[in-house]
Amino acid sequence: MSQKISQITEKINGAEETKRQFLFIEKAKEYVQTLSKELGRKPTCCVTTFGCQMNARDSEKLAGILELAGYELIEDEDADFVIYNTCTVRDNANQRVYGRLGHLNSLKKKNPHKKIALCGCMMQEPSVIEKIKKSYRFVDLIFGTHNIYKFAELLVAMFEQEGMVIDIWEDTDQIVEDLPVERKYAFKSGINIMFGCNNFCSYCIVPYVRGRERSRNPKDIIREIERLVADGVVEIMLLGQNVNSYGKNLEEPITFAQLLEEIEKIEGLERIRFMTSHPKDLSDELIQVMKKSKKICRHLHLPLQSGSTRILKEMNRRYTKEQYLELANKIRTEIPDIALTTDIIVGFPGETPEDVEETIDVINKVKYENAFTFIYSKRTGTPAAAMENQVPEDVVKIGFDKVLKTVQDTARERVALLEGKILDALVEEVNEQDASLLTGRLSNNTIVHFKGGKELIGKIVSVYLKECHGFYYLGEIVE
Ligand code: SAH
Ligand code: SF4
Ligand code: F3S
Repeated sequence: MSQKISQITEKINGAEETKRQFLFIEKAKEYVQTLSKELGRKPTCCVTTFGCQMNARDSEKLAGILELAGYELIEDEDADFVIYNTCTVRDNANQRVYGRLGHLNSLKKKNPHKKIALCGCMMQEPSVIEKIKKSYRFVDLIFGTHNIYKFAELLVAMFEQEGMVIDIWEDTDQIVEDLPVERKYAFKSGINIMFGCNNFCSYCIVPYVRGRERSRNPKDIIREIERLVADGVVEIMLLGQNVNSYGKNLEEPITFAQLLEEIEKIEGLERIRFMTSHPKDLSDELIQVMKKSKKICRHLHLPLQSGSTRILKEMNRRYTKEQYLELANKIRTEIPDIALTTDIIVGFPGETPEDVEETIDVINKVKYENAFTFIYSKRTGTPAAAMENQVPEDVVKIGFDKVLKTVQDTARERVALLEGKILDALVEEVNEQDASLLTGRLSNNTIVHFKGGKELIGKIVSVYLKECHGFYYLGEIVE
């Protein structure tokens, strides 16, 4: 069945496809209503996100369709419909999915109406599909990253067909706009500005599971943001694997910096964030636009991956240690109050203790406000997986601990520079550990906890930064 549906949808344009999917939502509604009568209550659903911000944004799209179809969204996997939006960037993401599927099966045995669906990046790997077909027969629906806009149609197929429904595409150039979305936060939202990736860093599976890079039309992006702002959103996060190459392949090319300037004009929008910036494509134009902007947040996530020029070359990152340091230095000089964060991989094939020292040297020089350190994970099908000189686990662990310690020490030093200042924070939620505290985020992405009532959630307040606790602050609201 998958082949047939795919061929039809590939031929029609995005707007037609949107209409088509709304028809399937109506059809899904009928099935959900029937189920509702059988159960004597509204059926529930649960969407679980395993991956990055893009994965999370996709989950909001899934939730939007489920809600419109008549499900009640809950955060409990006991729900009548559970969907796992998976990630495969590192092997531990995959293992988490397999681990939790066993539990879902035991829940399904207790609830004969329960349906289980899997989607996202992990499903783009043929070996994963084989494994699920063989060992996880209780799964009802599987689809991938390229046809997520067809979710309503696939839901209907799931209700109508016996057995597992599987629909995986190898790639697509289709961008379908204006489908329903159910946001996790009322006041902030992610927005896809581009899909896929063309960089093929040698360790990374993303280009294989997300397809080729394609940018959304700037008009569609602006329209979506305007609607979000009208709906109460004050902060947006523009999403792409490499936002710095946004717009290059559009019919009327536009740079990422130009897009930001257009977005800046949207009235009522307070804060603009974006991720991720590939260092090789970060332009002076972008630095200048950020510098003069009132809305673009004082934060740049600039993944380093490694500080060793030799390893960077093997990683196909296309910059040297010196070029990276020069760029970081330029950004810190032009925008002194900016926070720099990064991603680092330890244990790439062939990495020596001397290479790790080069990484530590960059951390000491840049002094990131925060850094995510990952142990290299071999991803089948990537060039690095075929490299012979994989580093033994115990050696990786020593390097990893050293890098982590350097990150913690330098970050504390940098973050502490704000102590005693009064800065704006967007209040995001009630603190999970202590309900008398609120959690807010500074423009530079640093988290601050302070006393206050939950009516402030979604508001921007002034906060006195009293005590630095490593990566975050304890503060007080200033009236
Ligand atoms: N597009 C973004 C990153 C997407 S993946 C960028 O280029 O920066 C997020 C992070 O996961 C990467 O920055 C990298 O540090 C890490 N990562 C990707 N593949 C990995 C692998 N095979 N093993 C360990 N970490 C990996
Ligand atoms: Fe992966 Fe590199 Fe693309 Fe980022 S830029 S998603 S690390 S291939
Ligand atoms: Fe994101 Fe993981 Fe896919 S990091 S793009 S969800 S492989």
